[in-house]
Formats: sequence, structure tokens, C-alpha cells
Amino acid sequence: MSIPVILDVDTGIDDALAILFAVRHPAIDVLGVSCVAGNAPLAQVVDNTLRILDAAGAPEIPVAAGAARPLLENPRASSHVHGADGLGGISLPPTRRRAESVGAVELLRRLILDHDAPVTLVALAPQTNLALLLRTYPEVAGRIERIVVMGGSASVGNATAVAEFNVWHDPEAAAIVLDSDVRTYMYGLDVFNRVAIDHDVAVSLERGDDALGRVVGTLLGHRIQLSADESAEYTGLIGDAGAVCSLVDPLALRTEVRPVRVELAGYGRGQTLVDLRRFPGEEMLHGGADEWANVEIALDVDAPRIARLFLDTLGLG
Ligand code: BDR
Ligand code: CA
Repeated sequence: MSIPVILDVDTGIDDALAILFAVRHPAIDVLGVSCVAGNAPLAQVVDNTLRILDAAGAPEIPVAAGAARPLLENPRASSHVHGADGLGGISLPPTRRRAESVGAVELLRRLILDHDAPVTLVALAPQTNLALLLRTYPEVAGRIERIVVMGGSASVGNATAVAEFNVWHDPEAAAIVLDSDVRTYMYGLDVFNRVAIDHDVAVSLERGDDALGRVVGTLLGHRIQLSADESAEYTGLIGDAGAVCSLVDPLALRTEVRPVRVELAGYGRGQTLVDLRRFPGEEMLHGGADEWANVEIALDVDAPRIARLFLDTLGLG
């Protein structure tokens, strides 16, 4: 039986890879895609998402535009990572698909309540749409199997030294999601930064005859030009796609259920604090300990196994 899934995206090079994987994997049933501002401005995210669904040869999957900005702050697109168009300038053909006339929160509510089995939400972007959904329609929580979040870190950050981009972009939204009654799974930078496709494979895909392979190779090969005088660097990370891979091969990851909270103030704003202690701390023994959410966190990954799953599913192995 396939897993009913809704993707929440800010497409985004690696969101694009995640969408391609999700619609191509036979054990995943993509019910819809909701878009949010993040890697690129909202209108660009919607357009990129529709074009990638074309490239995937996907059926008519509903796509909706959601929040154009975080709950409190202004949007801060990461164009230095994903390019001005969010897709590294890949220039996909224009699409005839259209976004739904209703917004993301309404689409999410309808898809979740109309489906006959609990739905898995996969958040590959700032969690603004999901926070608005849970606050506006709390009755959906009981129909959500779990929320798989690409976000946060138990170690290093990327947007700041300690904060991961998706959580940093909308920390209040991430806190609302983590503190909700819905079971959450965190696919953070600890594993995100490890699953990559070899440079030679990406180059041969980019130069090959297969249309989908050329799209994947070009996205993987997009180089990060941090500044004019810094040389370009190949990363080849499948990024968000790894979070979707974890749905169908959970045993490729080592996870632990740990207490997590989102830091909202100071330099640490947007950091996910993860309590990795094996013993009770002083604050627990002496009272006054705050509430932390219990989250299943991916702490280690068999990276070659996930990379192989990704390529095989797209017929590029
Ligand atoms: C996350 O931020 C974006 O750059 C990627 O699409 C991913 O969702 C990684 O921090
Ligand atoms: Ca993303």
C-alpha cells in the first residue's frame, strides 16, 4: 500500500529533486503540493513547482500557493544558494499547469480531511503554511500520520552558525509545529549534509541523452558561487530529497527520540536545541524545567544507500 503524502515546498533546487523522487516512487502517493516563500519568492516557488511536475511527467497533482512571508519577519530568499530563479537558472519550459484557486491552507485542510487514511506531511521549507494550518484548523491534527520536517540540526547550522535555513526563516512557525500534538520526525542538517551524488555521475547525467537525467544532473551540478573571487564548488547534495527517501527506506537512518525546542531570541534565533543528554540535568532535579517536544531525529544515515535509492527510483542508476 502506498504512503499518502503532501509536500510543502519552497522550490528550490533540492525541493525540485524531492518532488521528482516523490512522484516517481511507486510507494508514495503525492496527494498535493503546497508552496511557501523560502528559497525564492512565493510566485517563483509556485512556477518552479509546476514546471518540475511537468519535467517529472506527473499526473495532475493539485498545487497551491501559501504564505508569501514568515509569521513575523520579512522573507529572505536564499538566491546565493539556489540562484535568482530558485532553480539555478536551469530554464525549464513554461507550464500549462495552474495553481489551485484556493490557498495552501485550504488545500491542505481539504486533502487531509477528505483522504480515507491519515496523511503524512513532508515539510521541505519554512513551516509557515503548516503552522497556519494547525492554528486555523486544529481538527486536522488527528488526521495527520506525522510531519516529516527537513529542518533544524543537532549540530551545525547553515543560515547562521547554529540555525538551519528553514527553521531560521520562520522560527515561530517551526515552534508551533514542534509543539503541536502531531508526531514529528526531524531530517536535519546532521544527515542532510551527507547524502550526495558523485560529481562524475552528475556530469554524465547532465551531458546524457535522458531528458529527466539532464534535469537532475544540471540541478545537482549547480555550483555555489559565494563571491566573485571565490571558486565554484561542487556539492551534489540531494538535500530535501533525502527526507522523502526516508519515508520509503527508514532503516537507512539511525534515529533517536530526543527533546527539542526552537530558540526564538538572540543570536541563537532559529536554532533547534536538541537535548542529547543521557542523564537528568540540574534544571530537572531542581524544578523549573521548560516543556520540550519529543521528536524523532535522524542522527546518522547510510548515505550511499540513500543516494542509490534516489538514482534507481528516477531510473538513472
Ligand atoms: C534547506 O534550505 C533550503 O536551502 C533547502 O531547500 C533545504 O530545504 C536546507 O537548510
Ligand atoms: Ca527546501
